[in-house]
Amino acid sequence: MPLVKMTELLGWAENNNCAVGAFSVGNMEMIIGAVKAAEEMNTPIILQIAEKRMKQSPMHLMAPMMVSAAKNAKVPVAVHLDHGLTMDCIKTALEYGFTSVMLDGSLLPFEENIELTKKVRAEADRYGATVEGELGVVGGNEGDTAVHKIQCTDPAKALEFCEKTGVDCLAVAIGNAHGNYPVLPELRFDVLEDIYKRVYTPLVLHGGTGITDEMFRRAISLGIRKINIATASFDALAKNAKEYTETTDKPDYFTLSPCMAEGVYENVKKHIAIFLNK
Ligand code: 13P
Repeated sequence: MPLVKMTELLGWAENNNCAVGAFSVGNMEMIIGAVKAAEEMNTPIILQIAEKRMKQSPMHLMAPMMVSAAKNAKVPVAVHLDHGLTMDCIKTALEYGFTSVMLDGSLLPFEENIELTKKVRAEADRYGATVEGELGVVGGNEGDTAVHKIQCTDPAKALEFCEKTGVDCLAVAIGNAHGNYPVLPELRFDVLEDIYKRVYTPLVLHGGTGITDEMFRRAISLGIRKINIATASFDALAKNAKEYTETTDKPDYFTLSPCMAEGVYENVKKHIAIFLNK
C-alpha cells in the first residue's frame, strides 16, 4: 500500500463523514505501534512529527523510518510535518518525502501568517505535497516550555486566510490545547460551527489528548477531518515501559521494545475507532 498525499486522506474522511487520525511519533516503537493499529483497523492514518520534537527525535533518523513505514504499510499512510516553524525544516521534510507539511504561523500577525503560509504552499507544490495552516492559537505547548494562551480562530478571517493561502486544511483554535488538560476542556462548538459554515476547507483539531468521545463526534459533525493525538501515545508508551521495568528483576530491551509499541498500538486503535464515527 502506498505512501499517500494527505489530501487523499482528507477526501476519504470527507466522503465517510469521519476524521483521519494524525498520530505523533518519536521513535521506532511508536511507528510500529501506530501502523499495526491502522492495519488491524483497516483504516488509513497520518504519521506525524513536530519540528520542536526533533531535539529528541532527529529528522535524519525519523524521516526515513516514517516514510519507509508508510511505504510498507497495508493501509494508506501519509507522512506529515506537524507544527513546522522554519522554512529550512519544511524544505528538509519535503526532500525526505513527507507528503504533507504544516506551517504554524499562529503566533504571527494575520498578514505575516498569510505571507509565510503562501511561501510554504509554493514550496510544497514543487513536491505535490499537502499544506496545513493554522489560524488562532491552540493552547498548551508543543515541545517546549512556553505555554500558549488560547485565542479562538476568528471565523470571519478563516475564509480570507484559506482563500489567500490556498491551504488544503486549516487547524482551528476552539478552546483546545496541547498536552493533558488540567480540567475537561470546554470546546467552543459555536465558533467551530461558524467557521464550518463559512469555510469549505477541511478543518483540523489539535490537542486531541483528553477530549471526550462525544466531543470528538460533535467536532466531526462540524467539519473536523483530521485529529491530532500526541501526548496520549507518549504517555501510553511511558506507562507500559514503567510497568514492565517495575515488574521484572532483569529488564531487557527485546521485551521492552514490543511492550512500548503495544502501549501506542492500544492508544491509536482506541482513537481510530472513535474517529471512524460509526
Ligand atoms: P496532544 O498532545 O494534546 O494530543 O496534541 C497533539 C497535537 O495537536 C499535535 O500537534
